[in-house]
Amino acid sequence: MGGEARGVLLQLLVVILVLLVIDAQAKENWYGKTVPYKPADEKVTKLHFYFQDINDVLVARDPAADKFSTLFTSLYIVDNPLTEGPELNSTIVGRVQGLIGFAAQKEMASLMGLSYVFTDGKFNGSTLIIVTRNPILIPDREFPIVGGTGLFQFARGFAKVKTVLLDPVAGIATIEYNNWHDTIPSKPTEVFGKEKVTKLHFYFHDTISGNNPTGVVVARAATTAQSPTGFGLLAIIDDPLTEGPEITSKLIGRAQGLVGFASQEELASLMALSYVFTDGKLNGSTISIVTRNPIMNPVREFPVVGGTGLFRFARGIANVKTYWANATSGDAIVEYNSIIHQIQAQKVDWSGTVAYEEQFHNKTTMKVTRLHFYFHDTVSGKNPTAIPIAQASTTYQSSTMFGTLRMIDDPLTEGSDPSSKVVGRAQGLYGFSGREKLSLIAAISYVFTDEKLKNGSSLSFLSHNPILNPVRELAVCGFAQIKTIFFNLTSGDAIVEYNVTVVHH
Ligand SMILES: *[C@@H]1O[C@H](CO)[C@@H](O)[C@H](O)[C@H]1NC(C)=O
Ligand SMILES: *[C@@H]1O[C@H](CO)[C@@H](O)[C@H](O)[C@H]1NC(C)=O
Ligand SMILES: *[C@@H]1O[C@H](CO)[C@@H](O)[C@H](O)[C@H]1NC(C)=O
Ligand SMILES: *[C@@H]1O[C@H](CO)[C@@H](O)[C@H](O)[C@H]1NC(C)=O
Ligand SMILES: *[C@@H]1O[C@H](CO)[C@@H](O)[C@H](O)[C@H]1NC(C)=O
Ligand SMILES: *[C@@H]1O[C@H](CO)[C@@H](O)[C@H](O)[C@H]1NC(C)=O
Ligand SMILES: *[C@@H]1O[C@H](CO)[C@@H](O)[C@H](O)[C@H]1NC(C)=O
Ligand SMILES: *[C@@H]1O[C@H](CO)[C@@H](O)[C@H](O)[C@H]1NC(C)=O
Repeated sequence: MGGEARGVLLQLLVVILVLLVIDAQAKENWYGKTVPYKPADEKVTKLHFYFQDINDVLVARDPAADKFSTLFTSLYIVDNPLTEGPELNSTIVGRVQGLIGFAAQKEMASLMGLSYVFTDGKFNGSTLIIVTRNPILIPDREFPIVGGTGLFQFARGFAKVKTVLLDPVAGIATIEYNNWHDTIPSKPTEVFGKEKVTKLHFYFHDTISGNNPTGVVVARAATTAQSPTGFGLLAIIDDPLTEGPEITSKLIGRAQGLVGFASQEELASLMALSYVFTDGKLNGSTISIVTRNPIMNPVREFPVVGGTGLFRFARGIANVKTYWANATSGDAIVEYNSIIHQIQAQKVDWSGTVAYEEQFHNKTTMKVTRLHFYFHDTVSGKNPTAIPIAQASTTYQSSTMFGTLRMIDDPLTEGSDPSSKVVGRAQGLYGFSGREKLSLIAAISYVFTDEKLKNGSSLSFLSHNPILNPVRELAVCGFAQIKTIFFNLTSGDAIVEYNVTVVHH
């Protein structure tokens, strides 16, 4: 996609670091006691750098999408440098690795799940995670920061971007992140103002049948056709959101992004979506959702991991209900009730914003829970839990499998032995996103099945995973420290130990 995708530049990036003080408690089973959250002062960090979009590899695409001139359905894996200055030869301060899926039929806009890994100075090894819609032809854009690791643990923030060089023919772009000239105040209180709550109510229309589907399959595994749950199927969607249940009711936005069928036993997907609103005061504001979606449950809950515009610094949940579904065609209408905590939102017609304290304060005491479990990734044998679904044409020449995309439904166990008690499953997808070093970008939901942990609770991870480092850190709403305890280099099978710290309501 080269240059087209990056036509924008960010101006400012505020990262909030919450340093967590935890009353360590004795572990009960594989999860610790949930304790009150006592945050230290939040900090603000401003970063300024350039994203050099040099070469991305195409891993999947629906040929039928030729009729769109927007790259719709093209999915890329990227590994590009971040530099201090705009020139390609200026000091490299990090790399960006991740997935970019073109998810709009009518405009050039992608859903990006990216990890920014810094390699310079005190931020060496720290990462930031961005899950966002990227309308590349709009000159000034904003991306939400949904998490981080290292010095950026618990990061929340936003980045503003601007394109300084765009050569679509050569497929090159240089994008400036955060230009401090029209800057935001540096004091956290001025940045944040008061936290507010917005409730949204709308309907999501997913049409996969007929002549004008809004959801299109871009990749599948060799075994997907035999799977009753579609395991391995990856789709890109551009679904309308409406005020009422009828498709003819007022259009208030679109949901764009990736949906991967990531369960071997039930119909459940991993969704990485950006909801962009186009109505009233929310016009242009977005929220990002990374979630497991157990489609057959009539009622489900999705985490809101970030937002832009009026939804900067958003955190929240969406309670969703299937309003209508056609089992033959797979088409569905889903009702959303979202509660979003954010900064600076204002009242609009189909949603209401109130001061955070007024109604919700009592419900929002934050808590901390620590989890400890093992992750089993089996790519070999007759019953793999991780299967390849797409790859780039250049993947065969890559010593790091750059461009390979896999879907997983991996068991999580209490002990390191694969036969020990299963406490949950990790479902989603990961792509090999390191050109020079073996590393992954993963969008995975960890769903826990233990009764005491409220069977069905889940955590969403979007993380950069340098798998050859024995110990690493992944971003959640919280963070996970993980260690490879078994890795068969011949088959690729692995067992990984996880310590997760999560801050939650
Ligand atoms: C970097 O590239 C620019 C032109 O692209 C050149 O003028 C400059 O000398 C180069 N700097 C170094 C240190 O190589
Ligand atoms: C960053 O950290 C890596 C690994 O810890 C180290 O090899 C490298 O030299 C560091 N780079 C800088 C610029 O400090
Ligand atoms: C939303 O914003 C876009 C771009 O700023 C504008 O073209 C459009 O008319 C706006 N829509 C509404 C309903 O205000
Ligand atoms: C359900 O989908 C099938 C296949 O596309 C179609 O024939 C049927 O009319 C649909 N039913 C309804 C109620 O829309
Ligand atoms: C919320 O907390 C305040 C003070 O702690 C208390 O007076 C009030 O009754 C609580 N409201 C609800 C709905 O629990
Ligand atoms: C968890 O919930 C699922 C479905 O709601 C149920 O099938 C399963 O038995 C439950 N597991 C436990 C350990 O309660
Ligand atoms: C997890 O925590 C335990 C207890 O503190 C520790 O022994 C273990 O090494 C940790 N594992 C990881 C991957 O951090
Ligand atoms: C590693 O994988 C290879 C190929 O699947 C297998 O032959 C070998 O037994 C495995 N080694 C271990 C220690 O599991």
